[in-house]
Amino acid sequence: MKELLDPKYGMFRYYEESRLIWFSNKTFEDIDLFNLIGIICGLAIYNLTIVELNFPVALYKKLLKRKPTLDDLKELMPDVGRSLQQLLDYTEDDLEEAFCLNFTITEENYGATEVLELVPNGEDINVNQSNRQDFVNAYVDYVFNTSVAPLFECFYAGFHKVCGGKVLELFQPNELQAMVIGNTNYDWTELEKSTEYKGEYWADHPTIRLFWEVFHNLPLEKKKQFLLFLTGSDRIPILGMKSLKLVIQPTGGGEHYLPVAHTCFNLLDLPKYRSLETLREKLLQAIDHNQGFNLA
Ligand SMILES: *[C@@H]1O[C@H](CO)[C@@H](O)[C@H](O)[C@H]1NC(C)=O
Ligand SMILES: *[C@@H]1O[C@H](CO)[C@@H](O)[C@H](O)[C@H]1NC(C)=O
Ligand SMILES: *[C@@H]1O[C@H](CO)[C@@H](O)[C@H](O)[C@H]1NC(C)=O
Repeated sequence: MKELLDPKYGMFRYYEESRLIWFSNKTFEDIDLFNLIGIICGLAIYNLTIVELNFPVALYKKLLKRKPTLDDLKELMPDVGRSLQQLLDYTEDDLEEAFCLNFTITEENYGATEVLELVPNGEDINVNQSNRQDFVNAYVDYVFNTSVAPLFECFYAGFHKVCGGKVLELFQPNELQAMVIGNTNYDWTELEKSTEYKGEYWADHPTIRLFWEVFHNLPLEKKKQFLLFLTGSDRIPILGMKSLKLVIQPTGGGEHYLPVAHTCFNLLDLPKYRSLETLREKLLQAIDHNQGFNLA
């Protein structure tokens, strides 16, 4: 899955600003691979497994046959979205001269720029007061629909092979998204409550007490980074924090060792640190150096 989604294979394009991915209409890959990715997404829902998928909500809208809007474009490409919003909000009379747009879209194509018409003869139609909404609609439709239609159709077919039917229609797009990539309803006390200990550790072991004291005082960003370090994703499963089941075990090494995460088992090796400062320092060092799975 990681390999398939990696933008270096050209099936998906990574958008720096939003850190999201979208289908790449310039792909050379076999279209069947998109079917496979659709199946995997469907399986993720079917098996209540969360996968690290950095798609915008637009993907889930499309899976539910809803139409993406300018808001979806803003999520994927914030800068383009902002510009289009400015165009819609512009109140002066000189809109045509100020924006100097026609019904085209400019795309990078392996280093070359390509000007594509959004409507027939789009180059000759200037964007003005009366047609600017049409232009924005055409732009959104191009990005989310026409430019990726065959790829998305394959993805859609794969997804619905596993996860189709009436039940799906009960979902809102963002609920469906939460099913696949987990949610962000962080309940850290729940995490502590459901944590299990091994070896010499138990809930009131001095190191464990220090650990939770340090952990609860970390800023949200760091806590999320810890989740990423521990589980490979900074989201939590749809069944909530308690289904994560963190396990902490002591290690034989001394205090100069770093904590280690065994991602597949949500297992944390925590050396028997005796001071709060050491524990905090080592924990932050470990999570800061974790690469995790990140498309960046
Ligand atoms: C339409 O806009 C594109 C992109 O900004 C520009 O390259 C092209 O010259 C414009 N066409 C006309 C006829 O003004
Ligand atoms: C805007 O452009 C369209 C197409 O070129 C034209 O039909 C329309 O009259 C123009 N509207 C204004 C207000 O200039
Ligand atoms: C996507 O584009 C096709 C072809 O241009 C069009 O027929 C269809 O209505 C569009 N779909 C949506 C959801 O807008």
